[in-house]
Amino acid sequence: MSERKETVGVIGVGWVGLVTAACFAELGHPVIARDILQEKVDSLSRGEVSIHEPGLEDLLRRNAERITFTTDMNELLAGARLLFVCVDTPPTYSGDADLSRVRAVVQELPEDGDHVLIMKSTVPAGTGQSIRRDMPNLSYVSCPEFLKEGTAVQDFMNPDRVVIGADPGDEESADAVAGLYEPLGGQILRTDVASAEMIKLASNAFLATKISFINEIANVCEEVGADVGQVAQGMGLDGRIGTAFLRAGIGYGGSCFPKDVSALKMLAGNTGYHFQLLTSVIEVNELQKRRVVGKLEKHLGSLIGKRVALLGLAFKADTDDMREASSLVLAARLQGEGAEVAGYDPVAAERAAGMLASVEMTTSAMEALEGADAAVLVTEWREFAELDWAAAAERMARPLIIDGRNFLDPEVLQAAGFEYEGIGRAISAPRPAPAP
Ligand code: UDX
Repeated sequence: MSERKETVGVIGVGWVGLVTAACFAELGHPVIARDILQEKVDSLSRGEVSIHEPGLEDLLRRNAERITFTTDMNELLAGARLLFVCVDTPPTYSGDADLSRVRAVVQELPEDGDHVLIMKSTVPAGTGQSIRRDMPNLSYVSCPEFLKEGTAVQDFMNPDRVVIGADPGDEESADAVAGLYEPLGGQILRTDVASAEMIKLASNAFLATKISFINEIANVCEEVGADVGQVAQGMGLDGRIGTAFLRAGIGYGGSCFPKDVSALKMLAGNTGYHFQLLTSVIEVNELQKRRVVGKLEKHLGSLIGKRVALLGLAFKADTDDMREASSLVLAARLQGEGAEVAGYDPVAAERAAGMLASVEMTTSAMEALEGADAAVLVTEWREFAELDWAAAAERMARPLIIDGRNFLDPEVLQAAGFEYEGIGRAISAPRPAPAP
C-alpha cells in the first residue's frame, strides 16, 4: 500500500490557489483549500469552475475526493501543516502592492511553531522579513509562483525552476516544501526569503523589459522597412538572448506584468532608488497600445463615426482574464476619437462585457466585422487564423486589418482582399485585385 502523502493547505482559492490545489491533489496529496467567499467555496464544492484554464477542470474533477473547499480557517489549520498563501496582491493607486489580504491571512494564523506559512502571492521584497518580525515564531517560506495563464497546469507539473526562500531557523520547513516539489523534477533553487521575493519581481520585470524592447525595435523597423519577426529570430539565435518573449505586439497585459513591474519600481523608489529602466518599460507599454489608433487614422483619416471591430478582448489567448488587457485601453481610445467599437472574444466576452460597457459585444467574429471600417486583432485566438477572411472582407465596409499580435499571415489576408498592417512587419505591396 502506498504511503499517505502530507496534506497541503491552500489559502485563497483564486487562479493561483486553485491551480496549486488541483495540481498537489493530482500528485496524490489531500488538499484543504480555504477561501473567505462562501459562494466560491460552494460552487467549487459542486464542481463548478468559474475560470478558464485548460486542463484545470479535468484535474479538479479527477481529484474531487482529495480536495476539500472550506471557509473555515480552523478546519484548515486542524488538517494541514503546510499552508500555501495564494491571496491576491493587486496594485494600489500608488503602484505599490496591496498587502491587506496577505496581512489579514497572517493575522489568522497561530504562532504555534506547528504550521508553515508558504508565501506564493507576489509580495515586495522585505515582506517576509517584516512578517517574521511581527510573528517571530511563525515558520515562513517564500515560494513564488511562476505559472502562466493558459498553461498553468502544464507549468506547475513541468517547472523550469522552483524557488524556495527561507531564513535561518526555517531550513526544515524549506526541506518540507522542497519535498512537495521533488516529484516534478524541475531545478529547485534554495535561497533566503528576500532573494526569493526579488527573483519573482526581477523575472517578471525582465520579461516585460524584453517585450517593451522588442516593441520599440518593431517601431523602428516600421521606419526603416525591416521586419521585426526576422530581427527577433536573428537576435534570438544568440544563446545569450534567446527567442522567447520577443514577440512584438500591442503591449503586455495580465494580472502579473503590469502589477509586478510597477511594484518593483515602487519598491526601489521607496528605498530612494529610482529604477529608471522600468519607468521606460511601463511608458513604452502604454504608448504601444495607443499606436494602433495612429495606424487606423493613417488609413481612415478621422475615426468619427467609423466602426472598428476588436477581435479578441482577453489579455492573451487561452484565458478569459481581462485584467490590464490592451483591449480596455484601445476601446477607450477609439471611442475617445469618436469611433463605434464592436468586440468579440470566444471566451472572455462575458467578463469583458462588464468592463467595456459601451462596446457592442458580438457572439462571432463575423458579426463584429459586419459593416466595419477596420478590424484590430487584439488577442491571438486560434480561430482567427482559421477565419474565412475572404467572406469577412465582403462583410466589411472596408477590409482593413491591424494585426496587433503579428498573428495572421499577411499574404493570406492580402489575397482575401485586405489592407494588412502588423506591428513592425515589412509587408510587400498588396497583390492587385484579380481582373473581373
Ligand atoms: C506572467 C509570467 O510569464 C509568469 O511567469 C508569472 O507567474 C505571471 O505573469 P501571464 O501573465 O500568464 O504570466 O502571461 P504571459 O504569457 O507571460 O504574457 C504576459 C503578457 O505579455 C501578455 O499580454 C502577452 O500577450 C504579452 N507578451 C508575451 C508579448 O507581448 N510578447 C511576448 O513575446 C510575450
